[in-house]
Amino acid sequence: MQVEAMRADGAEDTLVEATPLTPFLGAEITGLDLSRDVTPVEAERVRELFYRHQVIAVRDQEISPEGFIRFAEIFGAIEPFFISSYNHPEHPQIYVLSNVRKDGKPIGRDGAGTHWHSDSTFVEKPSSVTLLHGVEVPARGGDTLFANMYDAYDRLDPETRSLIDGRRAIHRYQRKEFVFSGDRELTEEQKAEIEALKRKRQAEEAATAPSPTAQKSNSVPEQRHPVARTHPVTGRKALYLNDEMMVGIEGLDDDVAMPLLRRICEEATMPDRVLRFKWRKGDLVAWDNASIIHSATFTPPEEARVMHRLTVEGTVPV
Ligand code: SIN
Repeated sequence: MQVEAMRADGAEDTLVEATPLTPFLGAEITGLDLSRDVTPVEAERVRELFYRHQVIAVRDQEISPEGFIRFAEIFGAIEPFFISSYNHPEHPQIYVLSNVRKDGKPIGRDGAGTHWHSDSTFVEKPSSVTLLHGVEVPARGGDTLFANMYDAYDRLDPETRSLIDGRRAIHRYQRKEFVFSGDRELTEEQKAEIEALKRKRQAEEAATAPSPTAQKSNSVPEQRHPVARTHPVTGRKALYLNDEMMVGIEGLDDDVAMPLLRRICEEATMPDRVLRFKWRKGDLVAWDNASIIHSATFTPPEEARVMHRLTVEGTVPV
């Protein structure tokens, strides 16, 4: 595969390179040491590679929560997540995703994002960039899937394109934990594991207070966003989808809109067009929510997964 390289800061011997992870999406970035702050030249190079490859992975990093926040800020201002219950205790900008429990309580949000989506499409200005840092990663499961929405838009047939161009989809926040609709490569054994875990979590919730996400579910007003948006940085057209939270299309009857949305999501996420990222401890991955959709996958309960997540403020999609 092609390797791109440049000397990032002249005097120093820093080399920032991107090696594509697939022919259609994503790149691994090398030549960065995130135990120290990136230089302005490195930051510029990272942004350029990010908007070109849409998903970037910097692997095996020793990075403190403060360093993670400073790195994320090269993409813009960090925003708080709309549910604050799983914020990092010392760094509330960081949202913790985890299946680990201490003293019976989750240390982070468990089972989130397991359907195809762009982040926080249920708000007026959804996140532009999301960054995840693998603090503790499972030996089995817990991969993240990514699909390229420029490519998905370009592949639409003319009839479908004319049906969606200029139309807005209705997005409504719905709690979708332990649904795992994103991963189409689940074995029967994994499906059975998921059902068992789901029953366990439901029983726990019934015995205690509803989870913060369950409590929040009914209080988020719906939003309307273009089905295909124009990227605010690159100017390219991309499908803008959230498989589980789009509940209709303005001006189309639901019996036309819903099968249409389902079909374009399915076509956009054909397994042979999907980047499956397998985490290693210390990996940092950033993705472009205006041109990518992603899905978390199942982590077996006996495997620990702890991820730190930051999101960068976005703009109203147009
Ligand atoms: C997310 O949807 O933001 C989380 C993805 C993951 O945990 O793999």
